[in-house]
Amino acid sequence: MTEVKVAVLGASGWMGRVHTMAYQTFPHFFGTSGGTARVAALVSTRAEAELGFRAPGAKILSDWRQAVNDPEIDLIDICLPDNMHHEVAKAALLAGKHVFCEKPLADTAAEARELADLARAKGVITRVGHAFPRNPVHDRAKEIIEAGEIGEIKLFKGCQHIDVYGDPLAPYMWRADGSLAPTGIIGDTGSHVFSFMEFLVGRVSSLVADSYVTAPRRPKVDGQDLGGSAPEITEATEWGEVTNPDGTNILCTFENGAKGIVDFSRVATGRKFMQSYEIYGTKGSLVYSFDEVNRLRFYSNDDPGGRRGFREIDVGPEHPAYGAFLPLPNFALGYNETKIIEAAEVIRSITTHTPMWPTFETGHHICQIVDACMDSARQRAWVEIA
Ligand SMILES: NC(=O)c1ccc[n+]([C@@H]2O[C@H](COP(=O)([O-])OP(=O)(O)OC[C@H]3O[C@@H](n4cnc5c(N)ncnc54)[C@H](O)[C@@H]3O)[C@@H](O)[C@H]2O)c1
Repeated sequence: MTEVKVAVLGASGWMGRVHTMAYQTFPHFFGTSGGTARVAALVSTRAEAELGFRAPGAKILSDWRQAVNDPEIDLIDICLPDNMHHEVAKAALLAGKHVFCEKPLADTAAEARELADLARAKGVITRVGHAFPRNPVHDRAKEIIEAGEIGEIKLFKGCQHIDVYGDPLAPYMWRADGSLAPTGIIGDTGSHVFSFMEFLVGRVSSLVADSYVTAPRRPKVDGQDLGGSAPEITEATEWGEVTNPDGTNILCTFENGAKGIVDFSRVATGRKFMQSYEIYGTKGSLVYSFDEVNRLRFYSNDDPGGRRGFREIDVGPEHPAYGAFLPLPNFALGYNETKIIEAAEVIRSITTHTPMWPTFETGHHICQIVDACMDSARQRAWVEIA
């Protein structure tokens, strides 16, 4: 059994905590035949008493370079703000480490391309944190598509909305700062929809995007970030400028000729987390909503006339990744389990050289779509993707 030594960078943040948990948890469900992971280092700039508790025995470091240059570390796991991904991933690849980087892989497609090329040259394993499509229910969708059961895909409709910025006075956060998150909601939330498009439909060849900001500045509140509530405004209130998009609407064309309609935002008041897709083909269609996280709706023209309708398919224990967690369908495999599946796949790929999805190559494709959205919104025109 091979043990992979991991350093989690940005360990005290949301993703840092989830990834740290996932490495330690996956063998409980998937066993040890694909290797195990030891979280050997946690990197955080935030002094936090409980950090050591989360990974007993791990080195607690304050500078990510210490982890990248540590010969004991095999895998660098990047859960840092978006603007750091490229610099840190590049340094890790140059040091010969395997790299798991949260999405978006980089701020530009050119940077993402550089990382994918470097990874190939170094022969290391890479992964981008587009975890949502790894919910086993989407493997069912892919099987149905690849078996030709919905025919040729003609239309993809996808969306993802949250409401953390629905209130114009909701507190400022790093995600609204274009110097820390240059692509804003496009890299943050849009990239998740793009990962479904890449997984289920194929590559995008052109698009037109319209981006918007709903409140140009927001109050800064100590200790509040994602999901904080509006503070009382006084003369002492400090304000942060919103310098990246709150939302974007897109029309696109896929390389296979299918058309797409996609929208995503952080201002959809009341939508705490809305994620859905609808895929329409010449013989049938597929519909998914995160509100029913393990359920796919499938319509087929092959069903007898008078009996046609959307049938509900609940992914269950006959799918190995679902069955690893739960012996019965409809017990709701959720977000954190998807991240555990992700960690298991990363470690298995390192120890057994099993191919996995999505690597930095996919991360690059998705960054190309993000780039095209930024360019199109700026130029107010259709943009081709090379
Ligand atoms: N895959 C997903 O579903 C998903 C969900 C949320 C976030 N993300 C991505 O994960 C990344 C992190 O997001 P988050 O929500 O965890 O953010 P967060 O703000 O909760 O955490 C970021 C962490 O990075 C730390 N940090 C900042 N600068 C640092 C530095 N120089 N050195 C070391 N640590 C530093 C912060 O202290 C914080 O702990 C982002 O790129 C985001 O887009 C992905």
